[in-house]
Amino acid sequence: MTERIYNFSAGPAALPLSVLEQAQQDLISLGDTGIGVLEHSHRSKAFIAVYDEAEALCREIASIPDNYKVLFLQGGASTQFSMIPMNLLSKDQTADYLVTGSWSQKAVKEAKLFGKVNVACSSEDKNFSYIPEEVSLSEKPAYVHFTSNNTIYGTEFATEPVVPAGIPLICDASSDIFSRPIEISQYGLVYAGAQKNLGPSGVTLVIIRDDLIAQGPTDLPTMLQYRTHSEAGSMYNTPPTFGIYVLGRVLQWLKDQGGLTAMAQKNQAKAGKLYDYLDQSQLFKPTAAKKDRSLMNVTFVTGDDSLDAKFIKQATAAGLDGLKGHRSVGGMRASIYNAFPESGVDKLIEVMSQFEKEHAS
Ligand SMILES: Cc1ncc(COP(=O)(O)O)c(C=O)c1O
Repeated sequence: MTERIYNFSAGPAALPLSVLEQAQQDLISLGDTGIGVLEHSHRSKAFIAVYDEAEALCREIASIPDNYKVLFLQGGASTQFSMIPMNLLSKDQTADYLVTGSWSQKAVKEAKLFGKVNVACSSEDKNFSYIPEEVSLSEKPAYVHFTSNNTIYGTEFATEPVVPAGIPLICDASSDIFSRPIEISQYGLVYAGAQKNLGPSGVTLVIIRDDLIAQGPTDLPTMLQYRTHSEAGSMYNTPPTFGIYVLGRVLQWLKDQGGLTAMAQKNQAKAGKLYDYLDQSQLFKPTAAKKDRSLMNVTFVTGDDSLDAKFIKQATAAGLDGLKGHRSVGGMRASIYNAFPESGVDKLIEVMSQFEKEHAS
């Protein structure tokens, strides 16, 4: 099989072809070093250059202020669910969580091991199909945590929740990081598993304000202190070198595309086409509240499980992979992250239109 097909996977997800081609070359020899990128020591000059470039691009693309550290960690976004409260929440403090999906629920579960949790809002009453407008924050939370894009349910915060001055805002941006401009100074910490918009699984990007790093207890396991990774430039132990390399290449691609503003326009255009089609369809219905629709994960159903299954089968046969929705929502999910090409959205609409014609009642 040499032909690439359209990959709608929610993550790991489609990467830019040019990045994959470059990686293919660099696997054998990174530049003219004669050593492949997987084989270089993380302390080698060649890898340090890769690392420095990835960090510099990250800072440039998101205009990250100097009082923030960029860390490349392991353990996925899920490890951040525990590391955040471990470092920033004590037994007698409360952290506020906006619960907009099962990833936020998992974050809450971990936080409860370290302190008190106030669920400031929840959309569980309607299977997380919307973003609540009312948020009830506690008196003086240690921080406020939210999930900017709900990968499973196809909802996304249009803007950051408002928090009182001095309260750190923390965001799990795993499934929409760098899909649009982001004002880092509004946050205390932003984190994302790389496997959707940034690169392969195995590396987690953490952007954290200096004062929060300093605040963490010093009696935690060494690997679980932000301080450790900040002081060692993410090289306390062997970092996920290949993940950092690919992330750097993806960020260079993003920059070449025109950066975050241009990327946001492309994402708007791609998702807009699909939602426009869904809004006029007599067969397929979007599942997320219109005002909260995600530009990254477009979820939809026919309302008939067997018809959904038939559509997925037909789409797969037409070269559209990974459209099956998460089991908690059912139906279909088209994950169309930054690197997913617009031509794939066009093809999906074509296949959906054809299916709709064949099944018109
Ligand atoms: C919004 C969100 N948060 C967290 C996670 C978990 O990430 P990881 O598998 O890197 O732990 C995911 C994975 O899909 C996600 O979509």
